[in-house]
Order: sequence, then C-alpha cells, then structure tokens
Amino acid sequence: MSVPKANQLHIGASYYPEHWPESRWAEDIRLMREAGMTVMRMAEFAWSTLEPSEGEFCFNWLDRAIDALATEGIASVLGTPTAGPPAWLVEKYPDLLAVGEDGRRVQFGNRCHYCVNSPDLHAATQRIVSALAERFGPNPHIIGWQIDNEYNRVCTCERCQKLFQQYLNDKFGTLDQLNDAWTTPYWSQTYSAWEQIPIPIGPHNPGLMLEFKRFITDSYCRFQKLQIDCLRSHVSPDVWITHNFMGWYEGYDHYVMAGDLDMASWDWYVGTGHHDYLKSGATHDLTRGFKRRNFWLIETQPGAVNWTQLNNMLNKGEARVMAWHAVAHGADAVMYWQWRSALGGQEQYHGTLIDQSGQPRPFFEEVKHLASDFEKVSSLLAGSEPQSQVAMLNSYDSRWSVNWQRHHGDFDYVANFVHYYQPLAACNIGVDIISADAPLTGYKLVVAPALVLIDETQADLLTRFVERGGHLVLTQRCGMKDTYNRLLPLRQPGLLADIAGVEVEDYYALVDPIPVQGNWFSGESRVWAERLKILDAVHTSAIARYGSANGWLDSQIAVAVHAYGKGLVYYVGAYLNEEAQQALMDRIVKTAVVRPILETPQGVEAQRRVTPDGLHVWLVMNHERSEQTIALPWLAHEHLTDQDGISNVDLGPYDVAVLTRVQ
Ligand code: GAL
Repeated sequence: MSVPKANQLHIGASYYPEHWPESRWAEDIRLMREAGMTVMRMAEFAWSTLEPSEGEFCFNWLDRAIDALATEGIASVLGTPTAGPPAWLVEKYPDLLAVGEDGRRVQFGNRCHYCVNSPDLHAATQRIVSALAERFGPNPHIIGWQIDNEYNRVCTCERCQKLFQQYLNDKFGTLDQLNDAWTTPYWSQTYSAWEQIPIPIGPHNPGLMLEFKRFITDSYCRFQKLQIDCLRSHVSPDVWITHNFMGWYEGYDHYVMAGDLDMASWDWYVGTGHHDYLKSGATHDLTRGFKRRNFWLIETQPGAVNWTQLNNMLNKGEARVMAWHAVAHGADAVMYWQWRSALGGQEQYHGTLIDQSGQPRPFFEEVKHLASDFEKVSSLLAGSEPQSQVAMLNSYDSRWSVNWQRHHGDFDYVANFVHYYQPLAACNIGVDIISADAPLTGYKLVVAPALVLIDETQADLLTRFVERGGHLVLTQRCGMKDTYNRLLPLRQPGLLADIAGVEVEDYYALVDPIPVQGNWFSGESRVWAERLKILDAVHTSAIARYGSANGWLDSQIAVAVHAYGKGLVYYVGAYLNEEAQQALMDRIVKTAVVRPILETPQGVEAQRRVTPDGLHVWLVMNHERSEQTIALPWLAHEHLTDQDGISNVDLGPYDVAVLTRVQ
C-alpha cells in the first residue's frame, strides 16, 4: 500500500514505538487504521534509543515501525531527536548543558537542556542527523521531517557570552558605533572592550536586550541550518522540513527562524478551560504568516493536558470544531499528542487516544469521526489556502520593546494585537498576520498594532501602500523607536508622521478608564491614551476625542484619519473598550470595502479556502454548545453530509459544514 501524499488533509498523532515491545505495534497500527489516521510523527525524543552510545546506531526498529505503518497506508514524519541529548552524551560533554540565568548548569533529566551554541552538541547533532538522513532520507514513506522540538532554552554560559560579543563586533564594527547606538554614557555603560559586554539578565539597556534576542535567533538559526543541511543531502526536495513552533512564544524572531524551513507548524494547547476561537484564530494566522503558506498543526491536545493546575477535558465535540477551525485557517494536518499513554516518564496523565491499558479512550471515537470527515473533503481542499484582503503586521522587535518597557503593566503587545484582531474575526473577516517586512500588495487594509520600531524600509512599504489606495491603521506606540531600540529624535509616529497627518504630543498610562466620544461610537480608553495633534489640517479629521480626564487629555484628539495619496491612514491613540473597538473597526473595514466571508450568528465562524483552480470552499463552524441556523446568501452543496442545493445550514453543538456554491 502506498502512503498518503503530503498534500492531502492529514490526521495523525505522535507515536513512540520505542516505549513499547515490538509485539504490541501491530495492535497499535490496527487501531490507527480503525481511527482513520493517515500519518504518525516519530523519533523526536528517541536519541538514546537511536544512538545508545557514541557512534553506535540502532535504526532497525525505526525502519520496521515505518514499514509496518506504511503497510497499513500510514505515512511517517520523523523528528530529529536533538531536543533530548542522552545521558551518555551529557556525561561525556558536561558543558553541553545550558547555563540558566542563575548561573547554574541545567540538570539532566528533562529536555532541551542543551546550550544551542555548544560545539560538542553541534558535532553530536551532525553525527546523528546525518546518519538518520542517510538511512531514512530515501524512504518514500516519510513525507516530512521536523527539526528538534519547540526550541525554547536560553543559555547564559561564558561561551555564549563570547559569541554574543563576537556577534556584536561583526554587527557594529567599532565600539564607538555600539556605544552610540545604545547611548551607553547613560549610567556609565560606555564599553572600551568587547569583552566587557554582558549577557543581559533582568532589565538592562534596551539596545543590549534587543541585540541579545537577535543573537539568540541567530544561534538557533545556525543550529537549525546545520540540521537542514544534513537532511537535505539525502532527503528529496518534495519532502518538507519543518519545526514545531509554539504560537506566540516570544523567545526568538520566528520570521527569521522560518526562513530556512519549507513549512511552519505549531503545537496548539488550550491547557485549562476551553478554546476561544476569536483568539486562537490569530495564532493560526500568525503561524500561516511565518512562511505565508499553509502549515501543519503538528501537536494538539487529545482532550486534556497534564501540565496546568487544572487539566480539564475539552467538551465532547469541542476538539472536532477546533480541528476544523485550524484547517479553516490553513492547517493541512491535525495531529494529536500523543497516541498512547506511556507507562513512565513525566507525562503519565496527559490525554491520549489509547490509554495505559492499550484500549481506546472515549475520545478515540471523536477522532475517528473527524478522520472520516477529513477523508470526505481531502481532495476538495487539496492545495487550497485562505486568502485575505486584510493584513496585520507583527514584529518581534516591537513586541520585545513594548513588553520590556510596558509603562503600564497591563499593556501587553500580544493582548493589544488580539484587541485589533478580534473585531475582525468576530465578523468573519479573513486576516493574514505577516511580518512588518513583508510586501503589502493585494491588501486593502493593513493594521499595525503597537509597531514601535519602524525602519526606513518598512516606512517606505507602508507609505507606498497608502499612496496606491490602501487603508492603514496605526495605533498607540507606533513609530517611536529605531532599529537599535533607541527613541527617535522625533515625535510619534516618527517616519510615518507625514502619512499619518498627526503626531503624538504625549502618551499617558491610565489609572482609570477615561471617556472617549467618537463620531460614530462612544466608549472609554483603558490603560493607555495618546494625545494627538493634527499636522495636516486640510486632509485630517478627528474621529474621536477624550472626555474630561486628567486635564492633559480633556477634549484632545484620540483617533484621527488622514487622506494621503489615494488612501487613508487612521491613527488610534486610545486603547478602546471592546464595544467601541468593534464599532471603530467595523467602520474602518466598511470604508475599505472589505466584506465578511459570510454573515453568521455570534459564536459561529466562517472562513474560506480557495483552491488553485479558484474554487471557493467555505468552512462554517459552530463554536457554541447550542444549535444554530445560518441562512446562506446562495445555494450550496454541503460536503460532509452530501446535501445539495441547501440555502440554510443547521449546525448542532460544535458542528461544522463544508460548503461550495452551486449557484
Ligand atoms: C509539547 C511537547 C510534547 C508534549 C506536549 C504535552 O509542548 O512538544 O512533546 O510534551 O507538549 O502537552
């Protein structure tokens, strides 16, 4: 039997055959077939089994597992096992262990315990990954590779410090340049030798902190590239290489990290409570934006996790709608972590499909149902992608900068970002979340929440976008700093003041919310308020003003819009309450002539994927536990129930419809 192709809609799990006697595998694989699994991810923590001692490789078991799966029509994704350097390796090269911020070496016994810059780690990585690539690269049953697992460790060892200093030397060339970029005379931080520069621990010079983040990104990129190069010498070009990112994790610049990968993927866990599609949609869109193409949901929770204070089970049906929600936002695979509960190890109580006794849990049936639905629409959705007219700009530099100096503890970059995403998602407006460096052609509306750092190239991109007729929303904190995390000697929005038609006279962290009166909404500003001054009186109008507040803000402009070129630029200085934010964004969307994908009742989401032939496929998802009816503006074919010519969709709790237009 040949394994399913990489471009079909996949459903699978993480499988660890090394945890079990080989005699059990056949039963596992039989159950996988019964569940309708199309792919298994293996080996990402199997280093000690694959290489039990230095240079001694034991790959036969993995070969047999891949073969046994393939015989039943199940494809494999292999992980490189570097997130789990084994005990023998650590014993031989103890300084391969990372050093934490407290100056102590990380203890062996968990994972990602390595210093990403360790030459011993690199040598061992090269050996195991090359050997794996040589052995498994040509295997036609492997459709993709995952490098490492959720990079997350920051090392502060002396070697990293020296490399950081070298990185700075390469970047700045002279200490004069560095001292100038970081304003080091401040608090007598002037450096007269590269060796004096520390790794920042805790609050530090903002320029130094930003460069250290860039250095971490650089370090992981090198480690990742080393592995990609080993794989690529043996793995065919149509087999993808990915890494499983962690959504909004802030440790490094994901756009840079994704540069060398073929595809992004991520691990979605709700933890405690239940999913909130207005927020999780942003994380899917973020991941799709790393490569500006579809992604894999390479891990998600089979009901419950084990690592929060309260590891509740998702409601019956909830995982089903979550899986479709991921697909609707561009996931081409949904994979549960993990297939079966291991008897030992740190994750004994985590949700699985097969319990410790080897029998399917009740949740198994839900996955089986999902798999059979996936099969029904897999060829319909092959090659399709979401298409959006709205882009939101994300920047790791800006995020770090804001979050290190929040000025108001409640000003969080991601929460503020989602505050702009949510009103769009609530109306079924498709959104691409992309890097602030990405081209903007094809978009009607661009939203740039708290883009603090804006360089000349980015300012130029935005200016040309507006000149050509685009609508741009700038928000609080935009345009404050340069690429070294240094304040610009300009008022906000700095390089964008010309196109914004306003400048920020001052910013205020708020103790209590203050009233905001708009032309078409009223509400309040919380946390933050900026006082705007109109620069171009002819083409700028005030949209909202503050009410009576701290005196400084009374009657001052909170939101303005400026006509520039063929486009419009909004500047939003207020951090509006949800209702006012919705009203503001609704109007902005309407003015930009961006239409909802479909109008649906609250709690029902509609997204659309477009096939390479231009066929539109609507995914309509009920995220509520109550029944909902959606009236369609056209007649449709529903593909999961195979109903033709319907004009209404009735959705039960957590139910889903996949529609194409028949007329
Ligand atoms: C992920 C990790 C998996 C597993 C899972 C449990 O972060 O990649 O290996 O530990 O969490 O929720």
